[in-house]
Amino acid sequence: MLRRLKKRSLILNEEEREGMRRAGRFNAQLMDFLRGHVVPGVSTLELDRHVYQYTRDYGHTPACLGYQGYPCSICTSINEVVCHGIPGDRRLVEGDIVNIDVTTVVDGWHGDQSETFMIGRVSDEARCLVQCAFDCLWLGIEAIRPFGRVNDIGRAIVRHAHAEGFSVVRQYQGHGVGRQFHQEPGVPHFPQPRFRAVVEPGMCITIEPMINAGTYDTVLDKHDKWTVRTADGRLSAQWEHTVLMTETGPEVLTVTQTGPQKGHRF
Ligand code: MF3
Ligand code: CO
Ligand code: CO
Repeated sequence: MLRRLKKRSLILNEEEREGMRRAGRFNAQLMDFLRGHVVPGVSTLELDRHVYQYTRDYGHTPACLGYQGYPCSICTSINEVVCHGIPGDRRLVEGDIVNIDVTTVVDGWHGDQSETFMIGRVSDEARCLVQCAFDCLWLGIEAIRPFGRVNDIGRAIVRHAHAEGFSVVRQYQGHGVGRQFHQEPGVPHFPQPRFRAVVEPGMCITIEPMINAGTYDTVLDKHDKWTVRTADGRLSAQWEHTVLMTETGPEVLTVTQTGPQKGHRF
């Protein structure tokens, strides 16, 4: 009974879907605004301030700020940082790759997305990794259909990442998203035996593969308890979208106007 009730609340009606569409649209618009500020010399804290101000100016709320005690409005994960990097004094320099993860709450609904930006000229390895993570995101999106298995996402992602010689982070995953930031189902980026969750029409999930140049193992920063790094110090890249499953297939809610579109070559 409880399971059924819980499950039913994951299935959005048309009005609720519109709420998620508005949240996704605003979040993508914010990412477009932010894009112009991601340049060599800017500090990650300055980027955080821009996002906070923009979100507030529109009357919305940064979902990360205060979430489980998180101190900022965005996550900025540079080079070997896999996710949840905390903005600070560090300035972006040529050769860096930086994932910026932005989540906002619009009228109670969450839009969640991230991009990895390349600062000026980057190494061939960095570019290939960013490309691979981007392609893994889109392959994951295209792997799901109404009533399809969540595991289909991870299967598609692992196949591509491994073919490119990269690894897929196992310790952090995508998630259901809606009135809550993180809800059921979990969305692992690799297929998990015995995991039978299905993506029904009306459900919203994120797909956010973290792809590593070396090992998939990660280490949590002992001091800030947020920053996640690759265990071997090699590069990591990530892309994320919020996706609504409709009766006819996935609808990506966080597509940007000025960002790279599906099929983009970096
Ligand atoms: N936006 C991240 C995600 O994709 C979560 C960040 S939680 C925070 O799920 F507290 F670190 F902000
Ligand atoms: Co997410
Ligand atoms: Co996110």
